[in-house]
Amino acid sequence: MHVLVTGGAGYVGAHTVLGLIEAGHDPVVVDDFSRGTTAALSRVEELTGRHVPVHAYDVADIDMLERLFDAERFDAVVHLAGVRTPHASVTRPLDCYETNLTTTFTLLRCMAWYGVPRLVLSSSATVYDAGTAPADEGSPLAPVDPLGRAHLMTEQVLRDVAGGADPSLRVGVLRCSTVVGAHPSGRLGDDLAGSTRGLLHEVTEVALGRRGHLDVFGDDHPTPDGTAVRDYVHVTDAAAAHVAALEALDAAARPLSTWNVGSGRPTSVLQLVGSFEAVTGRTVPYRVVPRRPSDASTSYLDVSRAAAELGWRATRGIAQICTDHWRWQRRNPDGYPVAATPETPWRGGVGHRLRLLQGAQGGPFW
Ligand SMILES: NC(=O)c1ccc[n+]([C@@H]2O[C@H](COP(=O)([O-])OP(=O)(O)OC[C@H]3O[C@@H](n4cnc5c(N)ncnc54)[C@H](O)[C@@H]3O)[C@@H](O)[C@H]2O)c1
Repeated sequence: MHVLVTGGAGYVGAHTVLGLIEAGHDPVVVDDFSRGTTAALSRVEELTGRHVPVHAYDVADIDMLERLFDAERFDAVVHLAGVRTPHASVTRPLDCYETNLTTTFTLLRCMAWYGVPRLVLSSSATVYDAGTAPADEGSPLAPVDPLGRAHLMTEQVLRDVAGGADPSLRVGVLRCSTVVGAHPSGRLGDDLAGSTRGLLHEVTEVALGRRGHLDVFGDDHPTPDGTAVRDYVHVTDAAAAHVAALEALDAAARPLSTWNVGSGRPTSVLQLVGSFEAVTGRTVPYRVVPRRPSDASTSYLDVSRAAAELGWRATRGIAQICTDHWRWQRRNPDGYPVAATPETPWRGGVGHRLRLLQGAQGGPFW
């Protein structure tokens, strides 16, 4: 399939582009490079021997998007452009809602006009009520931050369109748990410039001696070792889920299908630290500090629907995640090399102009 991948220069995006090429598809990337880098896509080209066409647009810019849809005949869209971290969504909620929702509106309009019938959305497990574990696709929904709410609103918009207003549209919504790890080649990974770091990155910082110790928030959770439990999925597995969802859409029983994408296995903070120490041979000193009131004790996904309907399961466990992440980290201590961002011919959209204006005048920038 000829597939438009929005946010394809980002972390999950670059791995998904690689997965699509390996599965025989023909991806085209649109990314505004607010976070992603062309260096990641150059490495996808190097790993696959295939050219990856890239367009540097804001997906919310309907004029640019329309030009792209006019020039190419896409069979499907994989939508990954979006805000990534809950923290960023709390400090800049308007950016989060605008990015996640407006990009979906422009995509849906172009897809309807140009007759593109398949969409896979990268949503997140943060839509669930954090008190439910394991969460399946029917579990209560109660996101606690703007990012989770933006994902849930986007899902709702898609539900109103697919199977409702537009019976020809087939949608796959992937509720992903925490995506971690790196490509086994050590060439693709998570470049964290300007981003909030998760537990694995904190652990890495301590192992590298950049920080003295890891803060562990609470050892009195009702879990086997008392530390909080989460679901970590390897990025290569998450990318494979996007490819599997795309390929399953035509045969799916529902116009809109929701699939959990996670390991399905609970991993505690201390288990992750232990795995990391075992595969790297480094010591990670830690200090237990009080629990944060907002932290759920146990959060992980039931992934049986994806297994049954997509034939997909995460195949890489926490040891593989740590091994691949460490390799990426050792080979790319400063992330990707600085690479030129392709010229953006013109950026329209009220949101973008206002953001520029507010930034230039030192006004509120949320
Ligand atoms: N990484 C995770 O753990 C995780 C977990 C669950 C869901 N997700 C979701 O998956 C998606 C991708 O996450 P990621 O980790 O790859 O993040 P990322 O920040 O690495 O990638 C997002 C990409 O989208 C691009 N982008 C942002 N706004 C854009 C716009 N308006 N137009 C065009 N491009 C734009 C960025 O430049 C970046 O390359 C996000 O929607 C995120 O919420 C990620």
